[in-house]
Amino acid sequence: MLWKKQQPVYRPSSDQILSPLPGPFRSALLSMYNGEPQLGSDGERHNLDAKVHISGEQGMWLHNLCRETKAKTTLEIGLAYGYSTVYFLASIHENGFGHHTAVDPIQTTFWHGIGLCQPRSLGMSDSFGFIEEQSVPALVHFADRGKTFEVIFIDGNHRFDDVLVDFTLASELCSMEGCIVLDDMWMPSICRAVAFIRSNRKDFEELKTPVANIAAFRRIGEDARQWNHYVEFCDPHDMPRTIQRLTPASLRRGAKAIARLMRL
Ligand SMILES: C[S@@+](CC[C@H](N)C(=O)[O-])C[C@H]1O[C@@H](n2cnc3c(N)ncnc32)[C@H](O)[C@@H]1O
Repeated sequence: MLWKKQQPVYRPSSDQILSPLPGPFRSALLSMYNGEPQLGSDGERHNLDAKVHISGEQGMWLHNLCRETKAKTTLEIGLAYGYSTVYFLASIHENGFGHHTAVDPIQTTFWHGIGLCQPRSLGMSDSFGFIEEQSVPALVHFADRGKTFEVIFIDGNHRFDDVLVDFTLASELCSMEGCIVLDDMWMPSICRAVAFIRSNRKDFEELKTPVANIAAFRRIGEDARQWNHYVEFCDPHDMPRTIQRLTPASLRRGAKAIARLMRL
C-alpha cells in the first residue's frame, strides 16, 4: 500500500494576519486573542470567553472591505468584547474618516462594557456610537431617522428567524452599493438564512470571499418583489449526505458512465 506523506497545513499566526493593522489596533486585538483579561466599564479587568470572537481572517476581510469601499458609515449588530469593532475602527483611522455604530442589548451587563472600552482606549470615541438595545427596535429607529450605512455586519442573535429579520431590516438601511455581511456560516441557522437571501433577494448580489465563515452581499437595486413573491430555497445542509459529497469531478464521471451504458 502506498502511504501519502501528509503535508503540514500552514496556518499564519494572529501576529502575521494582523500585521497590516496600525500598532494600537493590532495590540488591542492581540491582547484579546491571547486571552488577556480586558478592562470593563466598571474599571475592573475581566476574563474573556475564548469562543466569542471573529477570527483574524474575518476581521481583516471586513477591515479591507471598509478600506476598499471607503465606507463612511458602518454598523454592527452584536458588540460583545468588540473584536469586530476594533477592525472597523482601524479602517476609519486609516481612511481618515468614518463613523461606526454598534448595537447590543446586554453590553454593560453581561459583557461588562468591555466592547465599549475599546474605542475609548484607542482614542476613537468620536468615531463610535453605541445603542444598548435589541437589534429590531434599534434598526427600526435608524430607519425612522433616515439613517443609512455602507457596511452592515450582522453578528447578533444567531437564530434563523432573528437573522432573517436583522437582514430584512438592515436591507432598508443599506445604501446602494453598500454591503451586508453575515457571520458564522458554520451554523445551519445562518446558512439557511443566507440560502433564502441568495434565492429571493435579487436586489443583492453575493460577493466572493475567501473566508468560509462569512457571507457578504452588495446592494445592487431596489427591492422590487411582488407582495406574493417567494422562491424556494435550498441549503446544502438540507441535502442527503451522499449528494452533499458529490464533486464536479464525480458528477462528470457519473455522466460518462451513464453515456457509456446508453451506448450499449
Ligand atoms: C458573537 S457575539 C458578537 C461578537 C462580536 N461581533 C466580536 O467580533 O467581538 C454576539 C453578540 O450579539 C449580541 N446580541 C444577542 N442578541 C442580540 C439582539 N437581539 N440584538 C443585538 N445584539 C444581540 C450579544 O449580546 C453578543 O454581544
